[in-house]
Amino acid sequence: MTKCSAPGKMILFGEHAVVYGKPALALAIDLRITAEVGPADQYSVNRHPMKKRHHAYISASLDEAWRGPPINVDTVSRIPSGSGLGSSAAVTVSCVAAIMASKGRFEPEAVARKAFEVENKVQGMASPTDTSTSTHGHGVIVSPDRLDGLLWRIEKGERSWNIHHCDVPKLGFVVGYTGINAATGPLVAKVNKLVNSSDDARKAIDRIGEIVLEGVDAIRKNDKKRLGTLMLENHSLLNQLGVGHPTLEKLVDSCRPHSYGAKLTGAGGGGSMIALTDDPESVSKAIRDSGGEPIVVEVGCEGVRMEE
Ligand code: PMV
Repeated sequence: MTKCSAPGKMILFGEHAVVYGKPALALAIDLRITAEVGPADQYSVNRHPMKKRHHAYISASLDEAWRGPPINVDTVSRIPSGSGLGSSAAVTVSCVAAIMASKGRFEPEAVARKAFEVENKVQGMASPTDTSTSTHGHGVIVSPDRLDGLLWRIEKGERSWNIHHCDVPKLGFVVGYTGINAATGPLVAKVNKLVNSSDDARKAIDRIGEIVLEGVDAIRKNDKKRLGTLMLENHSLLNQLGVGHPTLEKLVDSCRPHSYGAKLTGAGGGGSMIALTDDPESVSKAIRDSGGEPIVVEVGCEGVRMEE
């Protein structure tokens, strides 16, 4: 039996704009998924027969990384699925790593490449942001340009991404999960329609790209005030791009008095928001009172690792 775990992620700056070649900054969070692989009589997940449709990411992970007799994959998740916190990437990364480790040992770069292929196959289209963050941990800057701290470069057709390490200071974040699961694909398509028809939308994308770089500078300086201001600006630009939601707005507003800043994270349209704060208790209460589910998280956590 071989067991690996991998973290979820939050996108601090740059979601949606990253689809248009702008940079993004994602942070690994301390909610993990564990995958344990071992021999079995038939391909199975948590001892139930594996179904391509129900176990899309695990089944595609096996297609990508496993050649051999049937195996069982046991998974344990602390990441709410469909919350925008990277559960599909974490299940893929932990599963690919456990398969590779069962054959010897795993190289993070190889895991990140295979996990990206899996997400891309299952979703039709994906950026490597989630899978590379879940693999590497810490903070990850995804950028069209090569910056300091390059980890690896991933290419797919015409598209390419440079993946970089970013040190993450101790920062207090609370996630507010709306409980609304919004699929990423249609939201990306919605933004695309706007970008193709509106100058203001294209300007918003450009400004988000600048915010990411300013945010990277602020996180390196541990400037929480600046980070919070940038988060609020990034949030209102995402609203302009049409991916907000009244519940997200309510949660972001309720956190403002107790935080440096707050924004939706990930695709939007529901999912989750994040608030940067020194007072996680007040923020959690504000989120709960506004109908959301608060989750206090640590950021900058370790990436994929062997367990036991
Ligand atoms: O659904 P999430 O949390 O993985 O966020 C998607 C981020 C987007 O920028 C909207 C899409 C992408 O592939 O980068």
